[in-house]
Amino acid sequence: METVNVGFIGCGGIAGAHMNNLSKMSDVKFVGMSDVDEVRAKKASETYGGTYFTDYKKMLNEIEMDVCYICLPPFAHQDQEISCIEKEVPFFIEKPIHLDLKKAKEISDRIKEKNLITSAGYQDRYQTIIDYIKPFFNENNLGFFEGWWVGGMPGVYWWRRKEMSGGQIVEQTTHIYDMARYLISEPVEVFSVKRTGLMKDIEKYNVEDASAVSVYFQNGVFGTIFSGCFINATGKVGLDFYFKDKKISYEERSNLEIHYGKKIEKIYQPEDPLITEDKAMIEAIKTNNKNLIRSSYEDALKTLAFTLAANKSIETGRIEKVEI
Ligand SMILES: NC(=O)c1ccc[n+]([C@@H]2O[C@H](COP(=O)([O-])OP(=O)(O)OC[C@H]3O[C@@H](n4cnc5c(N)ncnc54)[C@H](O)[C@@H]3O)[C@@H](O)[C@H]2O)c1
Repeated sequence: METVNVGFIGCGGIAGAHMNNLSKMSDVKFVGMSDVDEVRAKKASETYGGTYFTDYKKMLNEIEMDVCYICLPPFAHQDQEISCIEKEVPFFIEKPIHLDLKKAKEISDRIKEKNLITSAGYQDRYQTIIDYIKPFFNENNLGFFEGWWVGGMPGVYWWRRKEMSGGQIVEQTTHIYDMARYLISEPVEVFSVKRTGLMKDIEKYNVEDASAVSVYFQNGVFGTIFSGCFINATGKVGLDFYFKDKKISYEERSNLEIHYGKKIEKIYQPEDPLITEDKAMIEAIKTNNKNLIRSSYEDALKTLAFTLAANKSIETGRIEKVEI
């Protein structure tokens, strides 16, 4: 395949970042842009090319494409994935892949039946600094870890409504939950506590201001992941890992500090991982090689289950099993 024909469902904020990356690749052609908001679909088509649609089903019926980028807000997942599967169109999907675990499991099963290439937007997995530390996790001497996504509230209107975004754990800190899974092991059970009442000045706001979620992994490692969207000052996004012989501090999409006693090694991430993620998707389609994808839909389903179990523990006040 010389040219990869790409379509989009959802032409909002993150879609624009993917379009910009893809537009710099000489082997990519935009063939279809769809969004329920006509202005956005039209603008994307005028900027990058392709026919614009307000109905993704019409786009999939009329336009032949090699890959579809699904960049929808969490609440808007309906039949988009199934429509791609029925047309045998491989797809890239932004995280969180869904808000309904049962429906996401059905989609995952249908993908397996068709053996389709899929990629979920866990861009942090595509970093050279993460490749560098991944082998350390095979040494079996990690004690515990802490993770954070602590900062201000994202501006998109749907983020502040839990039924629309899933809340901060599911929508945002999911990157940290996914990285913990990617590096450590699979989660077994979680226990969550929450904080509310700090964001009184925001209209229509019903997500938690903060949460702390303790998790126990299959390999015996445990840790706590903090989320907070109430801070107007400096926040913190990343993970600290406490090994027997070193401490690793990972600052999200930026750098690593590895402390061996007094010796400190600092390494910076050279490329924006969103670009690496997009390059991997296009190469996987061109070469029909799933191994280039670091987070398939099937794998992202496990991260969704992890974050939804954390949400459930907030509601029940009890330890919850992570199950699909
Ligand atoms: N991987 C990352 O680092 C990253 C970064 C930002 C956002 N995201 C994720 O990407 C997704 C989209 O976020 P965003 O910031 O681009 O949101 P956004 O609100 O800016 O854009 C969403 C777009 O989808 C459109 N849309 C809504 N319902 C639709 C439907 N049924 N059919 C077609 N289009 C529809 C909206 O009109 C809008 O243009 C979210 O799930 C978010 O979590 C991921």
